[in-house]
Amino acid sequence: MKDVYILGVESSCDETSISIVKNGSVEIATTVLTQMDTHAMYGGVVPEIASRMHTENITLVLEDLLSKTDLSVSDMDAIAVCYAPGLLGSLLVGIEFAKTLALVYNKPLIKVHHIAGHIYANNLVKEIKFPTLALVVSGGHTELVRMDDDYSFKVLGTTLDDAIGECFDKVARVLDLKYPGGPNIEKLAKLGKNTYNLPIPMNNNELNFSFSGLKSAVINLVHNEKQRGNIINKEDLACSFQTIAVDELIRKTKLAIIKTNIKRLIVAGGVSANSYLREKLNELCNELDVDLSIPPLKYCTDNATMIACAAYPLYLKKEFTDFSLNGKSQEYFFTNK
Ligand code: KG4
Ligand code: ZN
Repeated sequence: MKDVYILGVESSCDETSISIVKNGSVEIATTVLTQMDTHAMYGGVVPEIASRMHTENITLVLEDLLSKTDLSVSDMDAIAVCYAPGLLGSLLVGIEFAKTLALVYNKPLIKVHHIAGHIYANNLVKEIKFPTLALVVSGGHTELVRMDDDYSFKVLGTTLDDAIGECFDKVARVLDLKYPGGPNIEKLAKLGKNTYNLPIPMNNNELNFSFSGLKSAVINLVHNEKQRGNIINKEDLACSFQTIAVDELIRKTKLAIIKTNIKRLIVAGGVSANSYLREKLNELCNELDVDLSIPPLKYCTDNATMIACAAYPLYLKKEFTDFSLNGKSQEYFFTNK
């Protein structure tokens, strides 16, 4: 079969990225321009600044990408773009850019959900084989999912309240850590010990998650200690929070493996960059003889490589979209197909 080259575009939050991927699994070239340092000055992503920076940078990102390869846009078989979820103004910059390339070069356009991107980043490591379990841990998602085929998802467990990444970010804020919260909690946690007695979330054998109780417990603890004039050991609190939150992800993942007897696990989403989670997943999969796939760090954070990977099965199914494509700031990915 002829090789399929897809150019992916990602601009849903604060990274402007374009990538070319061959056959959904071989990265040809990628450029990622992060705005993180700019937003860090404001304590979080400022949507207006983000979309303005995407607009200013996206053609430069394409130029940089093309300088890394002999391929040109006319060599592509399709143009793929992340359309949801994210900041609407930011998504629209990528969408209009992708539409323009598709129109000018007469290529099919493929819309990709951001979470599909995180999941299909696993194909960059080794081919996803089915059936597999997927642990999806991001700023907006916390799910244990069963996949029996490409784009076939059965949600086995989901969060009843906060997503795990959201919880990391809120705890980071109460500890006065800079944006982005998750990686800064991880850094602080490495310096501390698990000494704080925090409540175990959803202490039962269901596959659903709940993180709001744990988040509130940390926030209340910090406020109470401040009111009493006590000093908080931030390193220990970060470590205690991270330990209990990750241990809960591991406990439920173990339950899902045992309940389904599926011996494959892929991991997806920004929180999969967390080294304590990666270590614990490795231990778990060794213990249960499960084939584990976690994308390397550079594919865990937002990038367009994953968007081009996720577009490939859609290309094979000819699931193309037309120029009426719009951005969606919120769209739950899993539909239990
Ligand atoms: O998957 P992602 O880009 O989110 C959404 O698309 O929603 O991941 C972003 C989330 C943020 O909540 C961020 O704090 C978290 O992933 N994150 C981490 C780490 N790196 C990113 N959480 C814990 N430890 C990390 N090292
Ligand atoms: Zn993401």
